[in-house]
Amino acid sequence: MRTAQARLASGDVTTVRLNSTDNAVSFDTDALVVGVHTGPDGPRPAPGAESVDEALGGGLAATLLAMGVKGKQGEIAKLPTFGALSAPLLAVVGLGDAPEGDYDTESLRRAAGTASRALAGTARVALALPAADAQRAGAVAQGALLGAYSFTTYRTTGEQTAPVAELTVLSGADGAQAAVERAATVAASVSLVRDLVNTPPSDLWPARFAEIAEQTGSAAGLSVEVLDDKALKEEGYGGIVAVGQGSANPPRLVRLAYSHPEAAKTVAFVGKGITFDSGGLSLKPTSSMDWMKSDMSGAGAVFGALVAIAKLGLKVNAIGYLCLAENMPSGTAQRPSDVFTSFAGKTVEVLDTDAEGRLVLIDGIARAGQDDPDLIVDVATLTGAQIVALGWRTAGVMANDDELREEVVRTAGEQGEAAWGMPLPEELRKGLDSPVADIANLHPERFGGMLTAGIFLREFVPDGVRWAHIDMAGPAFNKGEPHGYTPKGGTGAITRTLVGLAERYAS
Ligand code: BES
Ligand code: MN
Ligand code: ZN
Repeated sequence: MRTAQARLASGDVTTVRLNSTDNAVSFDTDALVVGVHTGPDGPRPAPGAESVDEALGGGLAATLLAMGVKGKQGEIAKLPTFGALSAPLLAVVGLGDAPEGDYDTESLRRAAGTASRALAGTARVALALPAADAQRAGAVAQGALLGAYSFTTYRTTGEQTAPVAELTVLSGADGAQAAVERAATVAASVSLVRDLVNTPPSDLWPARFAEIAEQTGSAAGLSVEVLDDKALKEEGYGGIVAVGQGSANPPRLVRLAYSHPEAAKTVAFVGKGITFDSGGLSLKPTSSMDWMKSDMSGAGAVFGALVAIAKLGLKVNAIGYLCLAENMPSGTAQRPSDVFTSFAGKTVEVLDTDAEGRLVLIDGIARAGQDDPDLIVDVATLTGAQIVALGWRTAGVMANDDELREEVVRTAGEQGEAAWGMPLPEELRKGLDSPVADIANLHPERFGGMLTAGIFLREFVPDGVRWAHIDMAGPAFNKGEPHGYTPKGGTGAITRTLVGLAERYAS
């Protein structure tokens, strides 16, 4: 029995507000952020920076040029203002080439995130970026909040740099207040997901995740049901039980439900929640294992999205399933060649215990079908093959319905999350035939591994239900350096896409 209390969230909370002043020069803050574009003769002040440039005597471009600043995306420079502005510090962030028309929301999000990340240690930051309409003001707010994220729960030594405490978006756009509030609600959920992903597996095991979902979920207005290992066995969740049986920390299935009286549609989300993936008896090599605390990112995204949907009060019914298990090798672990009966009734031969995500997901997907949803979307860090095919930052989207797949890809794009449609080629199904059971969990062919995983899942989607599958093995966890609003470690990927989907299906 586990007694340790997981330490979640470091307590540093960044707030965001809106101010409609058009006078950034005399705005009372510790640091003012403006944008610059690349130009043929050096950087050029972006909208929002002109009055600042004037107050500095018109020399901003020349100064930046002398500093070697080009105005490219990802660039940031900090300048002292020596009393020319109310803010003692000016941060200039690159926006790349000036757009022909409206600013792309994702480039604003990234620029704002680059700025708030670089300004850690500064208490109050105001952003005078080109936020000409509500949507763009929201993007600036969200990027700045996400860039300010830090995970310091487990640090006891060394210099601590506090994240920015108070962000102010300067924009007079109509509707900006509501957009900034929405952005902040969604950013809070993304931060919650990042905290869960970053929390070590010694402090986040299935029952603990379920407890957090119960507490935080009910506080947000969700109804939460938890099936423990005994209930999972009794009710026939063979996949979740099989994966969880090797661990001293037994599995859970969490159902989160949100409903609205004016809702016409029901969306169901299913998340892979492997709190640690050792591979099981098909053990992973060390270099593939040390970041497998992130293997619950799908469940994290589903949880975060449900919390945001409830807080936003969307006119939709939304149901989330967190398929939680720890994949460990032991004397009670499932063996390669074991067969179990899934919740859908089909039998599965487990040829590789490291292909465990699909085993917990099929039970979640089959259970979600009983809610009679208009669509099911599952989210998972499912295959290394996703990273081979699409790299670290782009999720793969597969579906049993072409329109739904494109809708998911489009929604991800609108929310600033990279995703790409992938096929489910029929000829790959045959490789999943098992000599003993209805289906095997491993394809003999390594190539197209992301697609064979998708094809395996599709076999368990209830008839007539529209289903999409998002493989975000790469995007869920940033092993590299921070960039834009993305920190090292857990990213909270696809949380925003799920909220965006729920918004689409809202009345
Ligand atoms: N959790 C892993 C997939 C993964 C890999 C996520 C890298 C994030 C980063 C998954 O459970 C797994 O082990 N998949 C296997 C499947 C294979 C045995 C068919 C893989 O991709 O190697
Ligand atoms: Mn695995
Ligand atoms: Zn896994």
